[in-house]
Amino acid sequence: MAKIGILTGGGDCPGLNPVIRAVVRKAHNEGYEIIGIRNGWKGLIENNTITLDLASVSGILPKGGTILGTSRTNPYKKEGGVDKVKETIRALGIDALIAVGGEDTLGVASRLVKDGIPSIVGVPKTIDNDLSSTDYTFGFDTALNTAMECIDRLHTTAESHHRIIVVEVMGRHAGWIAVEAGIAGGADIILIPELPIDIEEVCSLIHKRHSRGKTFSIVVVAEGAQFKEEDMVTQEQKLDEFGHVRLGGIGEKIAALIEKKTGYETRVSVLGHIQRGGSPSAFDRILGTRFGVKAVELIKNKKFGRMVALAGKNIIDVSLEEAVKELKTIDKELYAIAKEFFG
Ligand code: F6P
Repeated sequence: MAKIGILTGGGDCPGLNPVIRAVVRKAHNEGYEIIGIRNGWKGLIENNTITLDLASVSGILPKGGTILGTSRTNPYKKEGGVDKVKETIRALGIDALIAVGGEDTLGVASRLVKDGIPSIVGVPKTIDNDLSSTDYTFGFDTALNTAMECIDRLHTTAESHHRIIVVEVMGRHAGWIAVEAGIAGGADIILIPELPIDIEEVCSLIHKRHSRGKTFSIVVVAEGAQFKEEDMVTQEQKLDEFGHVRLGGIGEKIAALIEKKTGYETRVSVLGHIQRGGSPSAFDRILGTRFGVKAVELIKNKKFGRMVALAGKNIIDVSLEEAVKELKTIDKELYAIAKEFFG
């Protein structure tokens, strides 16, 4: 019986368990055996696996996170890492591998395809929605709804206290969560990584709002937003194995400037990992399920080096190499719509 390995790597997100369940169920229907690899690429370096049978995926559909665990391990940054990955794959008798991840995990998958492990299929996930070649990644919709609900809650307290509240959301170098949660939650200003922050404009929009009788404002800022000539605000400078810094803190900076320049009392709320947790939305459960089934179909048809993707209403497959080439940043037309409601 052919064996399929599956791993989840990088930041977790809601929808990973629906993918794992779908892969196991579809693989079972097709007569494949499935091996779960723990903690992303780390599990292949350390030969750390679990058996995935029908019983082990029963009841996981509504669960957030990943039953396989995850890590930000990059085998290309570990001494002998790639050789260990190859060794484990050989030792376990894995015929094909499904890598579920974002730009980093899938970037490794794409390199491994060229470096002697050709039978890999990618499944795109991330709350950031920043992967090109797919209209949506699962995880984004749940994070977006969580952020929207938080903005709703912050509205009532901002209004009662006549305050400005700055809401910092995740998204790394793309403004998808900020823009979509901002539109859905009725933000008065949205600041994104794709456009430099102009604090004078922010303050003048707040003044404009106050001059028409409003006594509060909600400013949504993406963690990766930055001032023109300044570096991104980070929690620490140390780079992870994929060369990323830990973003966070721009909300505090903006809030202090707004209070100083406008005189209005200002507070900041950093949503952080709350956006990554919790039960997946219906959209993410369905997308994850469709991706999982399609990934096994690709293996069945020996279409390797491919990534499953959403194009309009259809699930398609695209080149893994192309998919990780560049990030998908915000749609300018969508931001233009958000701007109609600023101030
Ligand atoms: O990529 C998903 C994400 O949540 C980003 O939005 C955020 O910048 C980063 O991961 C946080 O990473 P960690 O969980 O390692 O702190």
